[in-house]
Amino acid sequence: MTSAPPPKPLPRGPRGHFLLGSGPDFARDQLGFYAECAREYGDLVPVRFGPRRGLLAFHPDAIEEVLVTRNRDFVKSPGVRLLARLLGNGLLLSEGAVWLRQRRLVQPAFHRQRIAAYGEVMTASAARRLAGWKDGDVLDVHAEMMALTQVIVAKTLFDADVSDESYAIAQASNVLAEDFGARLGSLLQLVPSWVPTPANLRTRRAVRRLDEVVYRMIAARRRSAEDRGDLLSILLQAQDADDGSRMTDQQVRDEVMTLFMAGHETTAVALSWTWYLLAQHPEVDAGLADELRSVLGERPPSVDDLPALPYTEMIVSESMRLYPPAYGIARQVVNPTEVAGHPLSPGLIVILPTWVVHRDRRWFDDPEAFRPERWADGLARRLPRFAYFPFGGGPRQCIGNGFAMMEAVLLLAAIAQRFRLTMEPGQRVTPTPYVTLRPEPGPRMRLARR
Ligand code: HEM
Repeated sequence: MTSAPPPKPLPRGPRGHFLLGSGPDFARDQLGFYAECAREYGDLVPVRFGPRRGLLAFHPDAIEEVLVTRNRDFVKSPGVRLLARLLGNGLLLSEGAVWLRQRRLVQPAFHRQRIAAYGEVMTASAARRLAGWKDGDVLDVHAEMMALTQVIVAKTLFDADVSDESYAIAQASNVLAEDFGARLGSLLQLVPSWVPTPANLRTRRAVRRLDEVVYRMIAARRRSAEDRGDLLSILLQAQDADDGSRMTDQQVRDEVMTLFMAGHETTAVALSWTWYLLAQHPEVDAGLADELRSVLGERPPSVDDLPALPYTEMIVSESMRLYPPAYGIARQVVNPTEVAGHPLSPGLIVILPTWVVHRDRRWFDDPEAFRPERWADGLARRLPRFAYFPFGGGPRQCIGNGFAMMEAVLLLAAIAQRFRLTMEPGQRVTPTPYVTLRPEPGPRMRLARR
């Protein structure tokens, strides 16, 4: 009989500050800290943040173990649970039986044919927004993309119009993004969120503002008592059904808030970085314009055009490689388990830094370069499964993956067909890790009609 090989001890990691460990380095420059750890210590790096122990995993096989093979040994991390104040126990944060029931309930709204029907809303919303754009205008492109993706997710999933509220929603989201960034950075979290400090009061007001938007959508549908067959109807009907899976008002609110928030900022960030990259790579922008001209001519894009727009799609994929909106995924160990043969104990936080994995030269030639054509000829099929994972993987993979790809490609096509966007001079835009990897400040870009 052969006995199992003995478990491997964990390799070495940074020692950091004697009390705070790597907390200060993480808070100062999260992305730089991950990159430095990978460079100095390799594929699996133990770290310490104050009293908390963590492990950074950079190898696709280890990532697959965490997200797929051993996913039952992990739950969402305390970092992402900081969002509970806003998202409650919706799909992104729930666990176990509640999560599974809700995922099954929500899934039909994301079936392929269903998503295809959303395409029309996406292009119509883009056309409405573009009607207000003029040659020579200078805009904050991130604010524009946020407003557009908000309108789209509210209309497609909840048949609600939030176009008059985009400013208020954006303001509240900014407050919450900053609060999340600050809390994630201060890992000791000396001030609990219930203490009425000015910052906590500001955050509470922002949550209340977003609650108003969400409760208005729910109340409007309840009043009309109509079954529109969309996600909001699915949620409300499940609530009415007395079959043991009844959802409380709070659960409906949490799901709507989660889908509304998870369903717009990520795609907006992906598009904002795409415009930023296109402005720096006129040759790619010219290739995009060529494809759009030859496939679409003057007519707006539709879902049926998607298979004929491979270069447009490669641009989106490449932009999310360099600037993955979800720049890292984190979990906490709940059952004794192992990764790459190393034993892991409950409580440990495992971080999978997408930002670094997507820029690893073992998987991508010239990894810092923006080269959409690298995705031609089936690169995605040749890569290890978790060398490129902008939407995560395993059971907790993004439910909006197909929705988001279609939306990003259609919006990119609809806008780039009409306008070229160039950066206004003198800007330094930094990838800033809040909940998503926001470009900060929002790039100011000038419109030139094609
Ligand atoms: C480019 C756009 C998007 C990116 C990069 C993205 C990325 C991700 C990632 C990485 C996860 C997994 C997180 C984890 O494992 O901890 C996730 C989960 C999720 N995403 Fe997305 N997402 C995008 C768009 C969307 C859209 C459009 C929707 C909805 C309309 C959405 C809804 C969700 C939900 C509900 C979850 C939680 C799923 C679950 O745990 O069952 N996302 N997303």
